[in-house]
Amino acid sequence: MLELKGIRKVFNKGTPDESVLFDGFDFSVREGEFVSIVGSNGSGKTTLLNLVSGSVLPDGGKIFLKGEDITDQKEFVRARRIGRVFQDPSLGAANGMTIAENMAIAENKGRAYGLSAGLNKKRVAAYRDILHPLGLGLEDRMNVPVGALSGGQRQVLALTVATMTPIDLLLLDEHTAALDPKTAEQTMALTDRIVREKKITTLMVTHNLRFAEQYGTRLCMFDKGHIVLDAAGEEKAQKKVEDLLALFNEISIECGN
Ligand SMILES: Nc1ncnc2c1ncn2[C@@H]1O[C@H](COP(=O)(O)OP(=O)(O)O)[C@@H](O)[C@H]1O
Ligand SMILES: [Mg+2]
Repeated sequence: MLELKGIRKVFNKGTPDESVLFDGFDFSVREGEFVSIVGSNGSGKTTLLNLVSGSVLPDGGKIFLKGEDITDQKEFVRARRIGRVFQDPSLGAANGMTIAENMAIAENKGRAYGLSAGLNKKRVAAYRDILHPLGLGLEDRMNVPVGALSGGQRQVLALTVATMTPIDLLLLDEHTAALDPKTAEQTMALTDRIVREKKITTLMVTHNLRFAEQYGTRLCMFDKGHIVLDAAGEEKAQKKVEDLLALFNEISIECGN
């Protein structure tokens, strides 16, 4: 359902700092897959998500979503069918606006004219019903500005908002990395629940090898713009944190670290 074909991505083109990250890079994801992506810093994980979301354009190659060529499609157009949650909790929602307002904006896919209509009692009740099962008590704080919430609450809200309307793809970029261990754990479990309940095809970049081991249906490890491990199903089930660490170490030795 997502296909990257022959992707080339060069940074700082034509300067002494020119670096080729992806060259002839192929990657495809099937409908319903939940892919955990790990890899050292600078291996191209975020750039992959940027290429898919349209915030970075490739220097060559094609990107298809559900068979449609989206290579040249603008980011805001893709955003209607691709949800994204970042590492920084302040990027997930409009911080000066309330939970209810953020949910109304999300429901209208960013169209502000839906805001007043979105905030009638019926809509707010519907939003409370969405938040209640998350178990964080957010449903009792509908009129609280999002900026007043904790990092974990904001990430869960960002996730909720990103998945409120039907989307084809969810992109998570180290979305638990800025949270304390317990909150990260809780946020990861909720992520898994949302992804599985809604059956959303998901790419999750994580630095947490245990999350990568425990969650998702497929596991990929990136190194310098290449996929060095790609395991799904039974093969993934057999990969343990130790195996991932061992591979990481092997790669670092190869680079002389
Ligand atoms: N906007 C940019 N300008 C220049 N270089 C970039 C840019 N974005 C990414 N890169 C380079 O591409 C490589 C991969 O970066 P990134 O995709 O952010 O890695 P990761 O998310 O795996 O840590 C890095 O070497 C980085 O310096
Ligand atoms: Mg990154």
